[in-house]
Amino acid sequence: MNSNALETKDRREEHEQFYTSRELGRLLLSLLPGKTWVSGKLNVLDLCMGQGALLECVSEIAPQAALFGTDIDPVNIDAVNLNDQLDIDARCIDATTPELRRIYSKKYFDVIVGNPPFKLIHNDKYIKRELESVGYSSRSTYIEAEIYFLLYGLKILKNGGYLAYILPDGIFTKVSLKGLRKFLVSNFCVHSVMEIEPGYFDGTEAKTHLLIIQKDSPTKSVVSLFKDEHPTQVITNYEFEERGDYSFYSKACALKMKTLESLGVEIFRGRNTKKVLLGFGVENYIHTTHISHSGSILKTSSFADDKLVATKGDIVIARVGTRCLGKFGVVESGQFYVSDCVFIIRSDNPKNQRLILNTLSSSFGRNWIKSVSKGVGARHITTTDLYQLPIIVGNNENT
Ligand SMILES: C[S@@+](CC[C@H](N)C(=O)[O-])C[C@H]1O[C@@H](n2cnc3c(N)ncnc32)[C@H](O)[C@@H]1O
Repeated sequence: MNSNALETKDRREEHEQFYTSRELGRLLLSLLPGKTWVSGKLNVLDLCMGQGALLECVSEIAPQAALFGTDIDPVNIDAVNLNDQLDIDARCIDATTPELRRIYSKKYFDVIVGNPPFKLIHNDKYIKRELESVGYSSRSTYIEAEIYFLLYGLKILKNGGYLAYILPDGIFTKVSLKGLRKFLVSNFCVHSVMEIEPGYFDGTEAKTHLLIIQKDSPTKSVVSLFKDEHPTQVITNYEFEERGDYSFYSKACALKMKTLESLGVEIFRGRNTKKVLLGFGVENYIHTTHISHSGSILKTSSFADDKLVATKGDIVIARVGTRCLGKFGVVESGQFYVSDCVFIIRSDNPKNQRLILNTLSSSFGRNWIKSVSKGVGARHITTTDLYQLPIIVGNNENT
């Protein structure tokens, strides 16, 4: 090997220079909603642009977009500047240093794309501070560069803007990165993850995933997982915290927990406001104040004269109220009027009733309900979400 080739090889290794094939770049961008590209004025950035492969794919779809890129390697900057087909504002910097802030301190981007280097970097004061400024803290001495680039990208995205990254498997599977996944689904809209098998495209020797996140508060409670032609899997945000890779869920499919839907239960929403119920002048009504987080037994000797009433065996669960979500109870006798702040879960199978109660009283059940709840003010859950409540079967009721 001559010295030039050796130098290139060393640089490749040092900076993790694996460039994205056009095919993979196009696939990544195809996961973004079409409306992303319609704006006449779009600022698009790649913090580790290499020779501009991803930005080139952007310019195919959005020729009007203003392209920005940084890279640590001057050879890449020269290559970008020599490319007549591409007009990129290219800067040669180490994007893990304060220099980055200096360049883009006043700029926010509509779209950020990236295939960052997959390597450990020193988690120095600057990096810690930048991560803390987005609400993420890591005390470890070293941190994955891809985490820094992911979070920094989210920081300088415009509100409502999209981030599209190629990331290593560990981000979606490592137990030690559960906190990162939780941080992502708790603070942003994680739209989708597409799994790419090793070697599927040129330059993807390792298993990678394409991740699409919108900088928006988490209004969705599910993440879509894709893998080439396989059917889409939809997982809850709570499941994403555990793992976010397609393969895990497709393998686990057969073993997957039952859901309220698969138990064949019916869910009804109470109709009467509390004010109306108080106007009835009755005591046998259920509102969120009558049920508890540990589960309440509800008994009455009265009957209720309404189209929808809760009767023996019915499970009631709070539907709305940040502090009330997760409260539940079971009717042991009589009939109750039901407020519009609770759902009735009805199953005529006593074994299923027990399984549902076990799930609702477990920390798993409580966390799940919290994680699917939505709303900026008073959080609430929907029937659609509740039908997907995974039911714990077997002996692990206290999970
Ligand atoms: C995996 S390559 C991807 C390049 C390009 N985004 C693509 O998709 O083809 C990672 C790039 O990050 C650059 N890089 C590595 N460390 C960097 C740093 N600290 N600051 C800026 N760029 C860096 C490398 O030079 C390399 O071009």
